[in-house]
Amino acid sequence: MHSIQHYQDLINAELNCRLERIDEPKGLYEPCKYILRNGGKRVRASLVMLAAKMFSPRYERAIPVALAFETFHNFTLIHDDIMDEALIRRNQPCVHVKWNTNTAILSGDAVMILAYTFFEEAREYITAILPLLNKTALEVCEGQQYDIDLEQALLTDALTNEAMYIRMIELKTSVLLAACLKAGAVVGGASASDADKLYEIGRNIGIAFQLQDDILDTYGNVETFGKKIGGDIAENKKTYLVIAALQNLNEGDTQELMRLYAQKTDSAEKYTAVRALFDKAQVLEKANATMNVLYEKAYTILDSLSLAEVKKTELRTFIDELRTREL
Ligand code: IPE
Ligand code: IPE
Ligand code: MG
Ligand code: MG
Ligand code: MG
Repeated sequence: MHSIQHYQDLINAELNCRLERIDEPKGLYEPCKYILRNGGKRVRASLVMLAAKMFSPRYERAIPVALAFETFHNFTLIHDDIMDEALIRRNQPCVHVKWNTNTAILSGDAVMILAYTFFEEAREYITAILPLLNKTALEVCEGQQYDIDLEQALLTDALTNEAMYIRMIELKTSVLLAACLKAGAVVGGASASDADKLYEIGRNIGIAFQLQDDILDTYGNVETFGKKIGGDIAENKKTYLVIAALQNLNEGDTQELMRLYAQKTDSAEKYTAVRALFDKAQVLEKANATMNVLYEKAYTILDSLSLAEVKKTELRTFIDELRTREL
């Protein structure tokens, strides 16, 4: 993520000075500071900033908006890790592991409210952007609910299909990236039509972003990815890899996959057997083909923006980096 290093540094500094003012009770705020300070790629904040910069040289005005979206994202991670029974995030213990579940629920709530508190600083954009933030926040909850519904569904259930999966990740992941790009465009003074195009770019790259997350969860490297490899398989998550496998496997192998997904376990045997079936079904090839279509759509929309080419370079480079990310 070299191209966004300067935004990452800026956001970390801005976040830090606000967090220094928050102190007691430590039991509440230490976990908040822990999640907000322990790294993260700062993708959402960077999308806000670089979209604002596409349309205006005074893009620093977008800082509170970027902080709000990034902080909201971090809130979702605290609760997501409870729901997914995850142990490690960003190479460190999850909040509910380092402390406990009650602390993670309450600190998560506080991080969400901090997101809105940072947003208060963006006074002149509240009318334009608050409804977008709220709509997006609810959609993320809807996506997370579908994620649970799908986790509990059997591989043979009607719910377990590609359209449902795409809808789920559109809601849980992509609309937030989309809203970040749109909010940045609004701060930059983009036309309504260009702001909507930025949203569409974000929606497409956001879906691809979650597909890549699914791939890395099974095929990634624990040190770079920073999360347990095989967590989705252990939890019976209906990732793109499972959906693709169901489409490509023969009857016998499908039965075997169903047997493996009949129980929740983080055993190495389940991981190895499921991964072998994924390989046999050539799920990576299918996932890469789907991601390529999404990225091409994003580039086409970017090309259609009524902006000088030079203004589009930063976003194009960043999308290129997301495409090959290992973290
Ligand atoms: C993780 O998001 C949650 C998903 C939507 C896949 P990121 O991969 O952006 O997490 P951080 O903030 O960089 O750790
Ligand atoms: C997360 O999806 C989406 C949200 C946090 C809203 P995942 O559950 O795949 O994210 P990771 O892999 O835990 O980061
Ligand atoms: Mg998770
Ligand atoms: Mg999850
Ligand atoms: Mg994941």
